[in-house]
Amino acid sequence: MKAIICTQYGPPEVLQLQTVPMPTPRNHEVLVNIHATAVNSGDIRIRGLAVEGMMKWLMLLVMGWNGPRKKILGNVFSGVVVATGSAVKQYKTGDEVFGMTGFAMGTYAEFMCIAETKNLLLKPNNATHAEAAAIVFGGQTAIHFLLQAGIQERPSPKVLIIGATGAVGTAAIQIAKHFKADITAVCSSKGLALVQQLGVAKVILYDKEDFTACTEKFDIVFDAVGKTNKKQCQPLLLPNGIYKTVGGWEVATETIAQLQLLKDLYEQGAYRAVIDKVYSMQDVVAAHQYVDTGRKKGNVVLQILDA
Ligand SMILES: NC(=O)c1ccc[n+]([C@@H]2O[C@H](COP(=O)([O-])OP(=O)(O)OC[C@H]3O[C@@H](n4cnc5c(N)ncnc54)[C@H](OP(=O)(O)O)[C@@H]3O)[C@@H](O)[C@H]2O)c1
Repeated sequence: MKAIICTQYGPPEVLQLQTVPMPTPRNHEVLVNIHATAVNSGDIRIRGLAVEGMMKWLMLLVMGWNGPRKKILGNVFSGVVVATGSAVKQYKTGDEVFGMTGFAMGTYAEFMCIAETKNLLLKPNNATHAEAAAIVFGGQTAIHFLLQAGIQERPSPKVLIIGATGAVGTAAIQIAKHFKADITAVCSSKGLALVQQLGVAKVILYDKEDFTACTEKFDIVFDAVGKTNKKQCQPLLLPNGIYKTVGGWEVATETIAQLQLLKDLYEQGAYRAVIDKVYSMQDVVAAHQYVDTGRKKGNVVLQILDA
C-alpha cells in the first residue's frame, strides 16, 4: 500500500510517499481503507519536533530519539472497513467509519488497522469522507477542554474563545453553541467572515484591538490556540470563571462519547466541517508547509483516495 513515511524529524520535506507492506487485522481489529485524513497542528508538531523546553525531551522519549518510531503520522481518518478480525462484532465489511487513532497515529496511509473498541464510529451519514476526517481533531479537543471547564454545568455560559479560526477554535465555537453559550470570539481581521458564518456576533479582532482590555467578563475563557497565559486572562473572568488553554500541560484525551456527540451534531445539521484546503497524498509536503504557517482557517484535508 502507499503511505507517507516520516523519515526523520525536520521540515515538511522529510515526508516521503512510499510503498509499504499492507497491515493485517488482528482478532479484534478492523482493516480500514482510508479515504481521507487531515493535516493537523499535532502532526506538524511531531514532524518538526516543534516543542520547547522539557516538553521536547518528553516528546523524544515518547516518540523516538532519532525520528518518530511510528513512521506513519496522522491521527484522524474516514474510510471503509474492508476486512475484519475473527472476533469483531460491531463492524462489517463495507461500513463507513471515522475516528481518531491518537498517539498510535498511522492515518497517512491507504490502509490502517484499529481495534473495534477504540475511538471510531460509523461516519455521520450526511458527511463526505473529507468532512468526517476534518471534524474529529478540533472537535474532540474542543469538547475535552470545554467539558473540563464545566460548560455543561453552567446555564447560558458566557464564553470567550481566543484563536477562534483554527481547527480547535472553529470547533469550540460550534460546541459552545451546542451548550447555549453566549460567545465572544478573538481572531484576526482575516478570520472575521469565518467566525460570523459560524454564527458569532461578538468578535474582537486581535490585530486591531487588545482583547484583554475587553470590559465584559466570562464564565469560561478558552484559549484554543495557546497564545495566552492565565495571568493575562484572569481579569476577564467572572468570580467563578475558569481559564483553559490548549497551550499548557493539559492534553486532550479522546473518548467515544466525544466522537458520538460530534456525529450526532453533524447529523442534526448543528455542526459543520470547516475545510480550508484539500491536498492529495502526493502533495503532503505542500500541505505541511501550509499548516506550518499557523494561519490555516479550520482544517486541512489530505485526500487519500480520490473523492
Ligand atoms: N493540549 C492539547 O491536547 C492540544 C490538542 C490539540 C491541539 N493543541 C494545540 O492547540 C493549538 C491550536 O491547534 P489548531 O489545530 O486549532 O491550530 P491551527 O488550526 O493551526 O490554528 C491556526 C489558527 O490560529 C489563528 N491564530 C494564530 N495566532 C493567533 C493569535 N495570536 N490569536 C488568535 N488567533 C490566532 C490563525 O489565524 P490568524 O493567523 O488569522 O490569526 C489560524 O486560523 C496548537 O498549538 C496545537 O498544538 C493542543
